[in-house]
Amino acid sequence: MLNKEIKEKLRAIVGTEHVLDANLDRFGYSYDSSFVPLLPANKPDVVVRPRTTAEVAAVMALANEHSIPVTPRGAASGRTGGSIPLAGGISLALDRMTSIVEFDEKNMMVTVEAGVRTIDLYNFGAERGLFYPPDPASWKFSTIGGNIAENAGGMRAVKYGVTTNYVMGLEVVLADGTVIHTGGKAIKNVTGYDLTSLFTGSEGTLGVITKAILRLIPMPKLRNTLQLMFPSLDDACNTIHKMLQSGVIPAAAELMDKTCIQAVARHRKMDIDPAIEACVVIEIDADDTEALAKQSKQIEEIAKSFYVVEVRIAASPQEAEDIWAIRRGLSSAVGAMAPNRLGEDISVPRDAFPEIVRRIRGISEKYRLPIAVYGHAGDGNIHPSVLCDLSNEEEAARVHQAVDEIFAAALAVGGTLSGEHGIGITKRDYIVSALGEGGVRTLKAIKQALDPKGILNPGKIWN
Ligand code: LAC
Ligand code: ZN
Repeated sequence: MLNKEIKEKLRAIVGTEHVLDANLDRFGYSYDSSFVPLLPANKPDVVVRPRTTAEVAAVMALANEHSIPVTPRGAASGRTGGSIPLAGGISLALDRMTSIVEFDEKNMMVTVEAGVRTIDLYNFGAERGLFYPPDPASWKFSTIGGNIAENAGGMRAVKYGVTTNYVMGLEVVLADGTVIHTGGKAIKNVTGYDLTSLFTGSEGTLGVITKAILRLIPMPKLRNTLQLMFPSLDDACNTIHKMLQSGVIPAAAELMDKTCIQAVARHRKMDIDPAIEACVVIEIDADDTEALAKQSKQIEEIAKSFYVVEVRIAASPQEAEDIWAIRRGLSSAVGAMAPNRLGEDISVPRDAFPEIVRRIRGISEKYRLPIAVYGHAGDGNIHPSVLCDLSNEEEAARVHQAVDEIFAAALAVGGTLSGEHGIGITKRDYIVSALGEGGVRTLKAIKQALDPKGILNPGKIWN
């Protein structure tokens, strides 16, 4: 299928040095940041690294003509296997497309190429007094193209929403190489279907996102971070719940249970007070000192009513940064605690948060498996991580039952399978239970219309 002649054509499109087919290179593009096991079958036949939209379009036209699978890839920081090439073919790496193409100060918008790192966009805005809020834990290496393809969330979703809330328009290369532009800089736009939203979160299955117009907002003038320690997980959940009900909307409100705290302590070689069962990290922001102090005081009072045992208010931006670095590194710290970790990404209505945490604890006890619970408590999106050893068959069976029950519990309280990581490979078995037969048929109809040969990221979202 992908013979010498086609490789020559690919080299002619992107340049010889940007077509990689050595065994080791192909291996390097066969995995991502999910827990999908390494398999030789997941190696692409070839890695192609285009620099321009025109090159992406030429690659797609060639792939479509010869029915070659194409798996788009940003930084491979995804959690569900989105950038793993399941059917060989081309791994289309967009990491050379790193330009910030335009800064439109008057409209407070930027146009960026897909390979721009999230943190670089954040810093670009910050230097100009502007704010790009979506901050997935991987923002120091994730790319905007990948963020849009997965509709990435992050810590600041509580107050500021997720990636889709900032995408104004897209440049997309379709399966056959056609380049289209969706949306634009007009705030109101109902001309035709909302294709910008359709491609956002489409996991590389409908088209290759090459550029995006993103809106920025004014940067809040002041920020602070609070770290609260609780004697029980319930008290921590109740504090967050009560805070939101009383109308205090922090930028971020993150929860970590005892297993997570122990993981961090182990990682950092420090001791923790054994009475502490949960930790909540909150970021608040405001434009003046008074408003910031008021929020901080309200949160402290609520926490006190739920028996908070320790309140730490960051004394400097560096201290705040240190606290958030721990939170961002949590997934790795938790992952290091067992041979295997199945990290989920369920998302529930805000008011169901304490209930879902209780249910997960029940599942953990029922199946005798440690399940670390952490995540974005303020917006109802959590990452229960089942710590296990899948090489033990009896344990593996329990793990799968526990995961099934976690998903069932999320759906039962009105939630969903994934808040921010997407379905990819790891959650495709559950898509029908979440969307119903009719829902999945609708997704497939869209896929069929846009990619009739099924070459774009095959094997993702459904089986
Ligand atoms: C986090 C990633 C795993 O929240 O979404 O740490
Ligand atoms: Zn997360």
